[in-house]
Amino acid sequence: MILPIYTLGQPVLRKEAEEITAEYPELSALIENMFETMDKADGVGLAAPQIGLSIRLFVISLDCLSEEYPEYKDFRRVFINPKILELGGEEVSMEEGCLSLPGIHETVKRMNKVRVHYFDEQFQEHDEWIEGFFARVVQHEYDHLDGKVFVDRISALRRQLIKGKINALLKGKAHCEYKVKTVR
Ligand code: NI
Repeated sequence: MILPIYTLGQPVLRKEAEEITAEYPELSALIENMFETMDKADGVGLAAPQIGLSIRLFVISLDCLSEEYPEYKDFRRVFINPKILELGGEEVSMEEGCLSLPGIHETVKRMNKVRVHYFDEQFQEHDEWIEGFFARVVQHEYDHLDGKVFVDRISALRRQLIKGKINALLKGKAHCEYKVKTVR
């Protein structure tokens, strides 16, 4: 089932999300719906607050990059109750976008290695170092669980320059191909 994606201005995107247990109702159906919603919108990651649920869960699919990076073929991961334990490697600048901020793309600096403790969809525990583009997506989605969005991490100057676009979103004006839930 395709769910509407909440856009900037929706209070849920600014809340710190809550951890869940393995008993969370209909968790597997929820995860399936999140993947479907993300795929339909051509996203590489989707966090639960983006579909209006303030819980610590996000999904990532890098399959759309598999033409260039064959290792990402059918690459899908679920992160439940993740904790970033360490950041490492080097700082890399790259343009990011977000399904909750349609029409905005800005360069964000992030470390290219991240050590994460999390549970997968079977509630199996993991503690691993993640690298490269995958590490960027993990950090972007993780921010959503703490009520942050990527434009919080750009320079004050850049933020000033895109103020008009942000204000339009905050007023509920979003233009995109996928189904959204704006403040209006
Ligand atoms: Ni996002």
